[in-house]
Amino acid sequence: MILPSRPFLLSAILLSPILAARAADTFPWDQLTPSPDLNWVQCYSIFQCTRLEVPFDYSDPNVGTAALAVIRLPGNASDEQYRGPILFNPGGPGGSGVDSLVANGPSFQTVLGSQSNQFDLVSFDPRGVHYSTPVASFFATDVERALWNAGAPPTSLNQSSDAITHAWGQAHLLGALAAQRDASQILKYLTTDNVARDMLLITQKFGFEKLQYYGISYGTVLGATFAAMFPDKVERILIDGASSLNFCVVDAEAWFSANLTIEASDTDKALQTFFDGCAAAGPDLCAFYKPTAAEIADRLTALTASIRAQPIPILTPAGYGVADYSFLRRVLFESLYNPFTLFPTLAQGLAALEARDGATAAKLFAIVQEPQFQCDCSNNTAFSPTDDSTVAIQCGDAVEVTDSIEELTEFYQNAARTSQFAEFLVGSGRVSCSGWQVYREDRFKGPVAAANTSFPLMLVTTTADPVAPKAAALKTQARFPGSVLLTQDSPGHTSLSGSSLCTFGHFREYFLNGILPPPGTVCPVDETLFWCPR
Ligand SMILES: *[C@@H]1O[C@H](CO)[C@@H](O)[C@H](O)[C@H]1NC(C)=O
Ligand SMILES: *[C@@H]1O[C@H](CO)[C@@H](O)[C@H](O)[C@H]1NC(C)=O
Ligand SMILES: *[C@@H]1O[C@H](CO)[C@@H](O)[C@H](O)[C@H]1NC(C)=O
Ligand SMILES: *[C@@H]1O[C@H](CO)[C@@H](O)[C@H](O)[C@H]1NC(C)=O
Ligand SMILES: *[C@@H]1O[C@H](CO)[C@@H](O)[C@H](O)[C@H]1NC(C)=O
Repeated sequence: MILPSRPFLLSAILLSPILAARAADTFPWDQLTPSPDLNWVQCYSIFQCTRLEVPFDYSDPNVGTAALAVIRLPGNASDEQYRGPILFNPGGPGGSGVDSLVANGPSFQTVLGSQSNQFDLVSFDPRGVHYSTPVASFFATDVERALWNAGAPPTSLNQSSDAITHAWGQAHLLGALAAQRDASQILKYLTTDNVARDMLLITQKFGFEKLQYYGISYGTVLGATFAAMFPDKVERILIDGASSLNFCVVDAEAWFSANLTIEASDTDKALQTFFDGCAAAGPDLCAFYKPTAAEIADRLTALTASIRAQPIPILTPAGYGVADYSFLRRVLFESLYNPFTLFPTLAQGLAALEARDGATAAKLFAIVQEPQFQCDCSNNTAFSPTDDSTVAIQCGDAVEVTDSIEELTEFYQNAARTSQFAEFLVGSGRVSCSGWQVYREDRFKGPVAAANTSFPLMLVTTTADPVAPKAAALKTQARFPGSVLLTQDSPGHTSLSGSSLCTFGHFREYFLNGILPPPGTVCPVDETLFWCPR
């Protein structure tokens, strides 16, 4: 029911692996006229779509107007039973809420159960993202973007001695390009505070005053920011994979301080579950098996050294790429988002790399969403499915990063003490913002906290989330008195990476009956690593 794919994002980030599936269907968004009201038309067979006008700047309506792509899976309850919209954000930033709802809306209805028909399940592409206009775009054509991405793949900061230097150069070029190509002048208005304001406006357009919301991954930053800005407008806020809300000594959270170090607290723990799970599963279920976890770890270390010394070219009819050190590291890191789905494939791919069997190792492309070079080079459509919003939102939200290359190197080395995977999210996130130029002075910078929300927040974490550890969730919880944290006892990013009827039951109680889980609740998952390839 839940798909493991996610779109390629230039930098980082906190996009849930499950919910970013590309919609199989398409819909001619350009044929809808943007309106200040919700004028629904049927779309994607069972859904309804509209384009909602929102101001670039809520304090100055004259600056300009964006049109959000909004979608709903409508309920069918009577007027008396109707309970309004539940908004959903899939993370990223830059993930398409539209495509995620198309892919997963019916599953959410199942989770909510027979009373799901009392709600409209709603999502939207945040400003600058995907089907919303104007879209954040630094490139004149999709072909130009594809060429940039092909030349600047996400490289491990540990790939070579000049990897950080190189990434710094790329970031500064991209930052300058973004500033220069910002024809619609929208970039500085894409920040999370404005997306929170958009959510309030959408809710009001439905005729409701308070937000009902489910956000995963970066969607937790959005939900918590909303709660901090509009504490009296909270009907239900459920945030899952409660990342990026650490408060450092200076009271600036990880997200808004461009320092995601704390987010890597459990990454290595998640990798350890691969070793442990593989040893427990045995050679039939885990292709990278050895009798003990320690031996599997050693086997991976040897493979990494071998790939470092000599990469493997992979050429298949479906695509091609070079399996080098960065590729292997990314495959490992990204598989940690979704262990139940991806570990069996990871093990097969690692064994194939060891045997230098490129054709079989091509399985690993699925984990990093590649064939590495993908471009419909013949067409450049107005509503292109790719955009450059991720870096614009992440960097535009945060404090200005003015680090020198030496400081970035020191930052990375410091973060590498927290996790061996600091080379990606934490390190690359910081480096990729070091060349950003477009900031709005009056953007929300925190604190992400509220003494009293009109309804308590529900937070969810897993025991080994590679990018949103329990430590971060606990800090968030402390900033919202009355909120409750549910822990799902599984590795992976957000609770949706493992299936747990217990967790779903608490989701249902929260949305339907406003009942929070008892403090300290731990939910088991109903599946075992390596046993249940979906
Ligand atoms: C609402 O839809 C469900 C299926 O999604 C159906 O079982 C139910 O009968 C419908 N209710 C009404 C009042 O139409
Ligand atoms: C980033 O955060 C970590 C702790 O999460 C801290 O040790 C480190 O000093 C911070 N770095 C900067 C540059 O603020
Ligand atoms: C390019 O777009 C045109 C018009 O939308 C369409 O007819 C054509 O099939 C597309 N070509 C490819 C290769 O997708
Ligand atoms: C970087 O790579 C070297 C050589 O492969 C390895 O010894 C070291 O542990 C790596 N550093 C990190 C932080 O992963
Ligand atoms: C919190 O807010 C609610 C309604 O918004 C109010 O009824 C309650 O008295 C407040 N509690 C405190 C401690 O301020």
